[in-house]
Amino acid sequence: MSREGALAGVKAVIDAGPTYEDIDPVRFLGNRSSGKMGFAVAEAAVQAGAEVILIAGPVALPTPPGVARRVDVRSARQMRDAVMRAMDGADIFIAAAAVADWRVADYSARKIKKGPAGAPVLELVENPDILAEVAARDPRPFVVGFAAETDHVTEHAREKLVRKKLDLLAANRVDENIGIGTDDNALELIWTDGSETLPRAGKSELAKALVARIAAHYHARRRA
Ligand code: CTP
Repeated sequence: MSREGALAGVKAVIDAGPTYEDIDPVRFLGNRSSGKMGFAVAEAAVQAGAEVILIAGPVALPTPPGVARRVDVRSARQMRDAVMRAMDGADIFIAAAAVADWRVADYSARKIKKGPAGAPVLELVENPDILAEVAARDPRPFVVGFAAETDHVTEHAREKLVRKKLDLLAANRVDENIGIGTDDNALELIWTDGSETLPRAGKSELAKALVARIAAHYHARRRA
């Protein structure tokens, strides 16, 4: 762990992994995020000297060495509350989690049984947008978002950067072979007046490159 790295003296909050939205005591809505990218970013940020608080959805990953605090959560609303509690005095927020966009409107405390009425119809309601909420805070930390896109990657990512008022957005193309649940990845970094491609690499190497770019943009914004 370096106290002299590019993020020495910086407090970073990072969320990672999926969220699970419970339907009943045995079923949930989830997604294919493994949390590997977010955990690799947390490890790289520690190595760059940051004090890292890691808010993790349900993942099977060990805490990277040197992480100051890890908070495990399950649902998007729990993740939102844990992130907001961790944000006081934070300089950087990195939203690497694949937060479920929706949850079921009515959680059933009893297991839903098959019956003559046929298949249940689930009503969904929107979850809080953690990234947009952090970006709207005052004082506002340096905010980094991720975007997983299947098509028109750059155009969709730039729209998301503006809509969610982000400093930096890391976009990745998702298909069957790359992006979610895989061990390597490629990222398109996008900011207000520029972009840069971080070529396909293992998640740990890519996370180091990403954290170096985050540090450079963070310090440039502070100098501005
Ligand atoms: N995100 C979040 N809270 C949500 C949904 C998303 O914090 N409820 C964050 C993710 O962690 C990621 C970024 O927002 O950093 C992009 O998420 P994504 O779901 O791709 O974007 P959306 O704005 O939901 O747009 P769409 O689903 O239409 O692509």
